[in-house]
This record gives sequence, structure tokens and C-alpha cells, in this order.
Amino acid sequence: MLFLTAWAQSATAQTEKPVNGQLWPDTEGKHINAHGGNIIFHEGTYYWYGEHRPYRGFTTEKGIVVYSSKDLCHWENRGVVLPVSEEAGHDIERGCIMERPKVLYNEKTHKFVMLFHLELKGRGYEAARVAFAVSDSPTGPFSYLRSTRLHAGKWPFNMSNEQIAAAKKTDASKWRKWWTPEWRREVEKGMYLWRDMKGGQMSRDMTVFTDDDGRAYHITSSQENLTLLISELTDDYLDFTGKYIMVAPGGQNEAPCIVKHEGCYWMICSGCTGWAPNEARMFTSQSIWGPWQQLPSPFRDGTADGSRPYRDMGANKTFGAQGTYILTVEQRHIFMADIWNPRHLSQSLHLWLPIRYDDNGVPSIEWKQSW
Ligand code: GAL
Repeated sequence: MLFLTAWAQSATAQTEKPVNGQLWPDTEGKHINAHGGNIIFHEGTYYWYGEHRPYRGFTTEKGIVVYSSKDLCHWENRGVVLPVSEEAGHDIERGCIMERPKVLYNEKTHKFVMLFHLELKGRGYEAARVAFAVSDSPTGPFSYLRSTRLHAGKWPFNMSNEQIAAAKKTDASKWRKWWTPEWRREVEKGMYLWRDMKGGQMSRDMTVFTDDDGRAYHITSSQENLTLLISELTDDYLDFTGKYIMVAPGGQNEAPCIVKHEGCYWMICSGCTGWAPNEARMFTSQSIWGPWQQLPSPFRDGTADGSRPYRDMGANKTFGAQGTYILTVEQRHIFMADIWNPRHLSQSLHLWLPIRYDDNGVPSIEWKQSW
């Protein structure tokens, strides 16, 4: 509640206030250029990490940035915490693509660990790797560690020997035509899992989640963005333990965001239409390891404050946005999303909306212009 009060107070005290669907100026008056990221709270300060996007073009020219705030309203640009490298051939050479950075604080090692989606310079989106960086301070600098595909040679821990045998009989090279019922059956059997078994699984849009017991997980769009993988991180968050599952094979879920509410896990994803908005999807489970059940989108038309959503885009288009993170503030959950502007990615807008839970604990999200 404190957060809501702080925002409301600042809204009356200042002329500028965070308004969904409009530019959100930082303390220097420049639009907050932190996209696809997350926010952590550390020793009384919020840190908002994100992709620094150029005005023109799609590749990463600067790196990952952080902004800090005491009240979630006024954000100070604290600069680039993980810059691109000027070294030719480096994983994060200027011109690579660094997306969806997420920072976790590790209580045991007292380190700040960043995971992000990395595409190598000049190779479009084919590398599909996850990268790690680490820092002693929330404002960096982060030291780049490495990038990798996932789980080379390892099967999801919940696949039976029969299921593994069936996956091994699939052959992705044979399927020229996607989206037929036969193709879908093969995807569900693990056709792309098997295809990438040797070199490791693809990892594109991603998030991280720290559970109540301090265990952290990485959730990513894998297998040509068709299937989600949930993977356990090691105690220091700097690697994978090797334990993982597939979720919704063939479901084409991107931009995963996850929250735990009253012991139940909720995951909100987008569909897969690049920068264009689409209808969100929701999944729920009693355990991080599933079974995950799919439910309709949590977004609802109709607004509490009578305002119109951005460009009149309704719940079936996630109000024009694509999720990036679910922020918890004093037991309230805020769905953070980007309203992408593919012509000028740096001008992409932010959308923050409260998640409400009905009597059965099911989340829903309505448009609201301001708080
Ligand atoms: C989106 C994805 C973004 C970015 C974009 C590129 O679907 O969520 O992170 O990868 O595609 O087209």
C-alpha cells in the first residue's frame, strides 16, 4: 500500500506522474529507456534493469542499463551496468542483441546475478542463448561470464523412458510443413528437444523467479519459440543444476512472467508475433514443476477509471503491450509490460497494471491510466 500511496502523493505533488501509454520521464526528463527487464528492491532502493534500445535499429549499441528509485515513481538513470564489448568476436560485441535482462540478488553469496537473452552479432536470432553476468553492487559494473544453450545431452527430469524413446524416433528435418495435426503431435513428443539435444536447447525470451526458499528458476521460450522450459538454477544462481521441464509444447509462448500467490504459481505469457501485440495466455500450477494448466488470458476489458486503453487496444491485445515482469510490492503484484515501438524502440512505452485476485485466487488485469 505504501507504494500506491507514494505514487498517489507524488501524482498530486508533481505535474509529471507515471501514466500508462505515455512517455515516462526519468529525473532528467528523458523517457526511461529500460525495456524487457525487471525490478529488484535492495536496502531501501528499487533498481530497474532493462534493455537500452536505440532510436533506430534493433541491435544493442550500449548494453544493459539500470535506473534507481525510492518510490517507484521517480527514476534516476544510473547508467549502463553491462556495456557491450568493443572486442571483435566477443559474445556481447556491439551489434549483438541483448534482451530481457533479469537481475537476482543471491542472499548466500551477496552477489547480483544477471541473466539475459543473447543473440550474437550478425546472426539474427539463430544463436538463441542465455547469458550470465555478476556484480557486487546493484549499480554494477556487471562482469560478463558466459553464454550458453541449455541442457546439452540432458532430458527433462519428468520424461519417462518410454517418452524419451518416442522423442528419439522423431525427425525435425522431415517436417517442411508446420501446424498440421501430425506435426503438432511430433512437437508434443519432443521433436525439437531431440533435434537440439546435442548442441543444447534454444533460449530466447526469458524471466527468472526466486521462490520462498531462495531457490531460483529460469523460464524461457525454447524450441523455435514453441515450448517453454523451466530450469532450476544452482545455489549461487550462476549455472543450471540440470533439472528442467517442458511446459506447453507447441504453445508458442513468449515473454513469460511469473508470480506466486497464496502458494499457487501463475505464469502470464504472450503469443509469438514479434513486436506486435497479441492476446496473453495464463498458466497455473501448485508446483513449479507442474503440471501446468492453461487458463484464458487474465486481461479484461472495461476500466475502473473510465479511461481508454492505449490506442484503444483491448484486453485481446494485452492493451498493446507485452509483459516483462511481475513486481511484488508489499504483497501486491504489478504486471510490468512494454508497449513496443518497433520504429523507435527507445521510445517504447511502459505499462504497469495491478493484478487483482478473485475469491478463488484467480488473477485478472484491467486497464488503468494512472494510479
Ligand atoms: C518479441 C520478443 C522480444 C524481441 C522481439 C523481436 O516477440 O518478446 O523480446 O525478441 O520479439 O522481434
